Amino acid sequence: MLTVRAAAKINLSLEILGKRPDGYHELVSVMREVTLVDELRVSHSDDIALRTNTTDIPDGVNLVLRAARAMQERFKPDQGAHLSLEKRIPLAAGLGGGSSDAAATLVALRQLWGVDATCHDYLDLASSLGSDVSFFLYGGTSLVEGRGERVVPLPDGPEAWYVLVNPGVRVSTAHVFNSLASEDRWEGSATCEVAARSARNEDPGIGTNSLQTTLFSLYPDAERCFETTAELAPRRTIVSGSGPTVVAQFDGANQAGAAAAELARYGYWTATVRNRPRKGDRPCASS
Ligand code: C5P
Repeated sequence: MLTVRAAAKINLSLEILGKRPDGYHELVSVMREVTLVDELRVSHSDDIALRTNTTDIPDGVNLVLRAARAMQERFKPDQGAHLSLEKRIPLAAGLGGGSSDAAATLVALRQLWGVDATCHDYLDLASSLGSDVSFFLYGGTSLVEGRGERVVPLPDGPEAWYVLVNPGVRVSTAHVFNSLASEDRWEGSATCEVAARSARNEDPGIGTNSLQTTLFSLYPDAERCFETTAELAPRRTIVSGSGPTVVAQFDGANQAGAAAAELARYGYWTATVRNRPRKGDRPCASS
């Protein structure tokens, strides 16, 4: 039995540079793993089977099963595994939970089956599973470009504290991306500033998220959650990914904890987290 943790990610900044001929969007983002984690356990077996503590993810779209089958097909057709996933990261929340679980599956089966493959091989598999999966093969804090498949690792930086706030609505990433107006384009400079601070090993701070306005027009609850949170952390609040989870940065654990308690009074799901250093077990951690 082997246990791997799959961390949630937050986007410290995310800008959409344009729509690509393949239907995806060209983006630039600084992504950061935080200390909210799902736990994945794997053990040897003849077939591939998954147990989870949630009934909400249909088998056909479950990224853990898709990742396990892709890994088996590509590297070890004669091996199977029993996988057990304990989910704590909210679903369809902009926190990359499903993508992180998929990457954790690759990491776990690589160890369990003794797969000898390169970072490039894993990146290939990752991009066939979803745009955010590649980031989790590096983890830590990274600059992410292209459709999400080009990842440049950044230093872990000083300890930083965040409160994650979720209003309880589930958001379709595709719906938000597809509702962007065709003239919506950003040049990426806010994100580059965040990346530059991060590259100097400073606190990256918070940039901008170009999906926010579209998200708010589609999901008014997300806007209310953002406004309520931003009152406690002005200029340090951002939506993560396509939302609806809101991220607010605070100076320390006590300030973050107090804000989380205040926000929970509105009925929001909250978590107090810090940045998670890059882990050495990721196939691309040393790239
Ligand atoms: O890659 P993934 O399946 O996670 O993406 C979900 C949806 O988000 C895509 O179908 C697409 O509509 C949108 N997307 C996009 N551009 C990206 C990433 C995602 O348009 N770079």
